[in-house]
Amino acid sequence: MTAQIIDGKALAEDLRQSFKARVEALAEKGQRPGLAVVLVGEDLASQVYVRNKVNACHAVGMHSEKIIYAAAVDPEIVLKKIAELNADPAIHGILVQLPLPGHFDEKAVLAAIAVDKDVDGFHATNVGALAQGNPRFIPCTPYGVMKMFEKGRIDLSGKEAVVIGRSNIVGKPMALLLINAGATVTVCNSRTKDLAGHTRRADILVAAVGKPRFVTADMIKPGAVVVDVGINRLPDGKLCGDVDFAGCLEVAGQITPVPGGVGPMTITMLLANTIEAAERKAAGN
Ligand code: GUN
Repeated sequence: MTAQIIDGKALAEDLRQSFKARVEALAEKGQRPGLAVVLVGEDLASQVYVRNKVNACHAVGMHSEKIIYAAAVDPEIVLKKIAELNADPAIHGILVQLPLPGHFDEKAVLAAIAVDKDVDGFHATNVGALAQGNPRFIPCTPYGVMKMFEKGRIDLSGKEAVVIGRSNIVGKPMALLLINAGATVTVCNSRTKDLAGHTRRADILVAAVGKPRFVTADMIKPGAVVVDVGINRLPDGKLCGDVDFAGCLEVAGQITPVPGGVGPMTITMLLANTIEAAERKAAGN
């Protein structure tokens, strides 16, 4: 049987349409949501991500600015800018694009972002709140995946969920969200022994390992929901995910494509977090 394809692009578009009214309602209260995106370095892929984020803000009527530094910038200059953005009333969300160059202390940079403007949800206080099951900002990619489950009425309670990947950006917060939703969660990585033994038990499989076509059809349980977080560029320039889509399509029950799956949802949830930040500020909490 061929799996149902989860259309992240369409879902993202529906959500973004629904944001416009919230943005205008906030603008009328003098709180047009504003996002600042900080990029350090010349990495091409990061430049594309940052441009997409800023354009997506403008498309729903939000304010957005990008601040770009050369890779060799003194980290103190970036920290000073973050302090300015923390105090800027036009800015409700601050995102520092990761990874940062090697001479940066990434933790110190993330800690410098005001907790109530941390729309990435990477500040230790927000990570802790998520771990306690009381999140304020949920990291955008796993938040987007959870939205896909919600909109697709995919019940997680009691299900076997396997996450491949243990990053702070995707794997760990994804596991916490699935735990909070009542799933039985296993977190694997590319070096897990008998990885296929784990993945074949999964009713829900989330691949966030950063290796092209790493998950093959023989690794998935028939009928499973397969979510592909990977975006890998092949030598021929084409994009592909962490899942062998063509093979897994014949075994899975539902599957996300790349592109057009999780990717558009990530930016959408960044907008959602920034709007939520502005709504909290407008409501005085
Ligand atoms: N680099 C890759 N994904 C992300 C993300 O979600 N947020 C930030 N800040 N950097 C990233």
